[in-house]
Amino acid sequence: MEIIIKPTVAEAQQETAKIMRRQIQRKPETVLGLATGSTPIGVYSLLVGMHEKGELDFSKVSTFNLDEYVGLDAKHPWSYRAFMEAHLFGKVNIEKSRIHFPDGMATDIPAHCANYEADIRRAGGIDLQLLGIGREGHIGFNEPSSSLASRTRIKTLTPQTVKDNARFFGGEELVPRHVITMGVGTIMETRHCLLLATGEGKAEAVARMAEGAITADLPASILQMHPVCTLVVDAAAAKELKRCEYYHWVYDNKPDWQRV
Ligand code: PGA
Repeated sequence: MEIIIKPTVAEAQQETAKIMRRQIQRKPETVLGLATGSTPIGVYSLLVGMHEKGELDFSKVSTFNLDEYVGLDAKHPWSYRAFMEAHLFGKVNIEKSRIHFPDGMATDIPAHCANYEADIRRAGGIDLQLLGIGREGHIGFNEPSSSLASRTRIKTLTPQTVKDNARFFGGEELVPRHVITMGVGTIMETRHCLLLATGEGKAEAVARMAEGAITADLPASILQMHPVCTLVVDAAAAKELKRCEYYHWVYDNKPDWQRV
């Protein structure tokens, strides 16, 4: 795992956006896996800025989002589909037909999840998957105890995640309890995982994920087994990492051809 520690949130977001820009510039028909939550908002705004400057063309890009709340339709203001529309899709030249999302209103959820997996395969697999991490170590909405081989399916949120996401809904009781999420196994098949974590609240999960034991108790820890995984953190989220000096050393000594 490559671990990039930036002093500030803004610099961590910039590094993440630059990695995404490089991917799209190298392969205009990139299949992106996308994440929601507060962490990627700054990254999306940087990507929109790059698009406005003419540096990024999304016309051939396809996207698959990680997750969606069960019971919220795409137009619901708190749906992740609406979030993506507001922060990225509505602001760049992406083709609507290339946007893929779990359907929170699906009547046959298992069949819908199987189709979502099939759609990812049909698109040729995900080239670059943007990820966040929950305080308890979820990726997507794969909460602790998720099978590390899981596929897209329904999950029940932990009380902690309900609490963390209540700010978007205006109260814990309004947060749906169920979600559809890409599985840990689905995420592990993506060609490059790019996880951004910022703020002290993520420090413990980040340290366990990168330096702790691989365990379903912290699903993000399986990323230690991913062949191409980049973790970008700000100084606050890096606080509990033991080998910070070494990670800085690696970054400072990176060959030029590996830099973004
Ligand atoms: P956050 O969520 O960015 O809102 O902290 C991250 C996540 O749950 O993956």
